[in-house]
Amino acid sequence: MNHFNALAVAVSAAVLTSATHAAELKVPVNLPAHKEGAYVHQAPTLEDLYADKSIHPELREVILKGRDLFNNTQQLRGKYVFNDNSCRNCHMGEGGQNWSGPVWPAVTTLPDFRGKNGHVNSLEERIAGCFAYSMNGKPPAYGSDEMVALSAYHQWLATGAKVYERNISGRGFSSLGKQIPADISYEAGQKVYQENCAICHGDDGNGQRVNGKVVFPAVWGDNSYNWGAGISRIYTAASFIHMNMPLGKPGSLSEQDAWNVAWYINSQERPQDPRFTGDAAETREKHLNFHKHTRYGTEFNGKVLGQHDNTGDKPFLKPDNLKPRSFTFE
Ligand code: HEC
Ligand code: HEC
Repeated sequence: MNHFNALAVAVSAAVLTSATHAAELKVPVNLPAHKEGAYVHQAPTLEDLYADKSIHPELREVILKGRDLFNNTQQLRGKYVFNDNSCRNCHMGEGGQNWSGPVWPAVTTLPDFRGKNGHVNSLEERIAGCFAYSMNGKPPAYGSDEMVALSAYHQWLATGAKVYERNISGRGFSSLGKQIPADISYEAGQKVYQENCAICHGDDGNGQRVNGKVVFPAVWGDNSYNWGAGISRIYTAASFIHMNMPLGKPGSLSEQDAWNVAWYINSQERPQDPRFTGDAAETREKHLNFHKHTRYGTEFNGKVLGQHDNTGDKPFLKPDNLKPRSFTFE
């Protein structure tokens, strides 16, 4: 067990012992039933990787490097990553866990058209998307060692999975559906946050570091995901939180509490959306398919959320290697 895990477990154990009604806790979370006919894939484990003698030793090294980059993406801080996140912070179970954003479906469904950037994307481009938004950074160059290692890790997680299967069970973060409840409440969410989340993520949402190392990631502010990140959508955050948080007690929040706390953290400021035109309301309109699920560009407490030039630690707004592309093949 590495330092990061040890500390997380120690803190979550402390949280667990302090809970007064241990019987109310549901550990582990009750996963939704797989819909009939939906495709279910279980990602392989590390033991499988070592046991599989058909994998060339050099490929195994590359997969392991990809896994290392996925779990500790902070090693790329200041180069490709400009916030406190590592990929595994949102893609639980090292990217292999169903209902918690497993990453292997990208391998089996791409290349495909992606609405977010309006063209056919490769696996590397999909990974680049999480670098640009979730990591508030810039993607490593396509075809670079980092990209090939990360792709190899994703590809290996998909071992044996059906290619171009669309009806995948447990994909992404949408277990609570997309409809924001009419009675969603910032104040109720703030209370949920203070009682269940602040102990790790901080009163100011900035997370915690020990000896300079991130142990609990930021959930808002300069060190968090930016306004263009998938999890800035209320339903995505609510589903992620319901399935995975508080760490060590997943499933212990009611659905309503998960919605309210998602609303609360996604009403806080964070680094600018890299697609910013200079006007948040206009940027929202331009990308309404995405931003209709976020609070970006709307007025809250007398201010328009996201109307600022703050890109966090990142010294640029938009990565120069995120280019529009079209396939006209003249
Ligand atoms: C015991 C400590 C702990 C508690 C309590 C906790 N978290 Fe987390 N949270 C973590 C850790 C650690 C991660 C990263 C998970 C990983 O890498 O395995 C995380 C990840 C997250 C993420 C995704 C990553 C990011 O940076 O945004 C969100 C959102 C989040 N937590 C929200 C919450 C909310 C909301 C609550 C309260 C309902 C909560 N957490 C309670 C430790 C905690
Ligand atoms: C702050 C949270 C967060 C972090 C950190 C993060 N991602 Fe993601 N990622 C998401 C969300 C949200 C989605 C979209 C899931 C959905 O559609 O419901 C996603 C989707 C993906 C997908 C597509 C999965 C599919 O079903 O097709 C891949 C691949 C991926 N991420 C890779 C990465 C990699 C690699 C990193 C690190 C460089 C990373 N992510 C970091 C939140 C995050």
